[in-house]
Amino acid sequence: MSKRIAVYPGSFDPMHNGHLDIIERCRPLFDEVVVAVLRNEGKKPLFSVEERIEAIREMVGPDVRVESFSGLLVDFMDQVGARAVVRGLRAVSDFEYEFQMALMNRRLNPRVETVFMMPREDYIYLSSRLVKEVFSLGGNLTGLVPEPVLARLRRRLRPQDPVVPA
Ligand code: PNS
Repeated sequence: MSKRIAVYPGSFDPMHNGHLDIIERCRPLFDEVVVAVLRNEGKKPLFSVEERIEAIREMVGPDVRVESFSGLLVDFMDQVGARAVVRGLRAVSDFEYEFQMALMNRRLNPRVETVFMMPREDYIYLSSRLVKEVFSLGGNLTGLVPEPVLARLRRRLRPQDPVVPA
């Protein structure tokens, strides 16, 4: 039987505990999980793709692959032999965007299925944009952001620095 490989794609600028929770939840369901960081210079990220990949690798351990991709997600999935896309669904507000992407990806490649997973309740309001904003305004992120990301935020942003839009 072929390996069940899932891709967990996103911007992850930066990764927070809600993302890590989804990774932990999908690991037992698949033989391999590939975290795929989108290369999208147009988004003006706070962290480079390389910085994000380095931080994610520190957090997820060696049995989760972490790669970057550009172009279509379905093409990247073909390259790594994955059929499942994993996406976290936090609230009804996420639904429309996720529904559109899932159906477009299925249209582009009918073998691709999107698996939605709900994060722990504590994280349903968490987003990378809010992490950057709260940090830059001196707010407390304890329990919301893993230490490797906090360390990088401290190096990159001082409280009161303006936030780079997500
Ligand atoms: O965490 P994000 O920024 O919401 O992730 C969005 C992502 C990376 C999953 C999405 O933008 C994507 O898959 N981009 C790749 C380009 C693509 O395949 N577009 C068509 C999919 S509908």
